[in-house]
Amino acid sequence: MPIAIACPAPTGAAKGGVRAAPALDAGDTMEATLRALVDATPTATLLFDAGQRVHYANPAARVLARLCAPEKGDRPLERVADWHPELLSTGALHLCSLHGSWSGEVILGIGRGQHKILLVHLSRIGPERFGMTVRDITQESVRESELHARNAELEVAYEKLQGAQEQVMQSEKLASIGQLAAGVAHEINNPIGYVNSNLSTLQRYISQLFSAIQSYEAALAEGAGPAATDAIRQKLDLDFLVADVPQLLSESREGIDRVCKIVRDLKDFARKERSEDWVKADIHRGLDSTLNIIWNELKYKAQIVRTFGDLPPVECLPSELNQVFMNVLMNAGQAIKDQGIITVTTSVAGGRVRIDIGDDGEGIPADVLPRVFDPFFTTKPVGSGTGLGLAISYGIVSKHHGTIDVSSTPGQGTLLRIELPIEQPR
Ligand SMILES: Nc1ncnc2c1ncn2[C@@H]1O[C@H](COP(=O)(O)OP(=O)(O)OP(=O)(O)O)[C@@H](O)[C@H]1O
Ligand SMILES: [Mg+2]
Repeated sequence: MPIAIACPAPTGAAKGGVRAAPALDAGDTMEATLRALVDATPTATLLFDAGQRVHYANPAARVLARLCAPEKGDRPLERVADWHPELLSTGALHLCSLHGSWSGEVILGIGRGQHKILLVHLSRIGPERFGMTVRDITQESVRESELHARNAELEVAYEKLQGAQEQVMQSEKLASIGQLAAGVAHEINNPIGYVNSNLSTLQRYISQLFSAIQSYEAALAEGAGPAATDAIRQKLDLDFLVADVPQLLSESREGIDRVCKIVRDLKDFARKERSEDWVKADIHRGLDSTLNIIWNELKYKAQIVRTFGDLPPVECLPSELNQVFMNVLMNAGQAIKDQGIITVTTSVAGGRVRIDIGDDGEGIPADVLPRVFDPFFTTKPVGSGTGLGLAISYGIVSKHHGTIDVSSTPGQGTLLRIELPIEQPR
């Protein structure tokens, strides 16, 4: 059954031109019931005609009139403009006539530099009849702008926090390089040592070769025969020289390559990555270069078993991922007391790249397991662990939209599983 509110012609008899709502008695009509409902609603409601003459206004509308113009007191409210001259614009009324309804926020100046923000809704009820509801949202708007201001403050704080977090990450990385410095120096010193000794040998060989050339020249000048040149050859041990020089050179080249590689890996590792440095990188190269840097920490106690699968290039921040590999590999090494095995296994699973780093070290007790990713949680002696390794790794992997999980059996070993999407979500 259609519901209609009858709008009797204005009489102006009621106080201020507003008709009082009839009492709701038993047997009331739907019209009376609805009217009682509108009278009771806290939203200011007006019915008016095309000439903006008001036919009905509920008590909340009178309260609104006092809010809009407190100084005017109980004035007659016969026209919409009596509430406030700017409450209803002709534009809004025109649009409502055209489209059947109109809604918008209206800001009314109410004197003494104050204003009210009202949410106005207009509906065309009949050919010449309009309904208007008005809700005072000044407080809500103030709260909303306060909320916006808080939000902006929070965003600034969040950005600062992110900056701080990046700095912590970078310092942790540099601190771990600091810890590794002695080992890395050793790794560099070793090849430099034999390159140095090879150079001394080569220096001796070269002076032997020069003497050989001089002896050959003298022998040639004297017209000496093959017996004399043979004697020179044997005296200066030329056959051995010829065989040994290439070997010394290739060994030295290998040593220099090794030094270059460590220096390059270190440089890659220490680099502070920026958000625009996302590249498609080879995870295996990252694992290899990380193992290269920490080799001195692992080589005396762990055998490394690499089982590398067929991986596609992964969109990532390579130096940050290397930091994760280093933290996990260092933990694995530290968990092995005497001799053990560290396994590094890669594969593709469910469209993601999986990197499993396992060790057969001491394992993690069940009560410790849930806390290993907490910042500053460490079971290592004071001064040897900051407890940031896994917390930072967790942050980096999350930034890559990946996951890092740990499983462990005390006394048997630990497995860290890192899974990364091949491409970052756009
Ligand atoms: N492979 C592992 N085997 C046994 N325990 C582990 C292993 N990895 C992590 N843990 C435990 O988790 C804790 C937290 O590790 P995390 O790398 O965050 O900090 P840390 O190694 O103690 O210190 P930091 O890495 O800052 O030097 C460790 O103290 C250790 O108790
Ligand atoms: Mg650690």
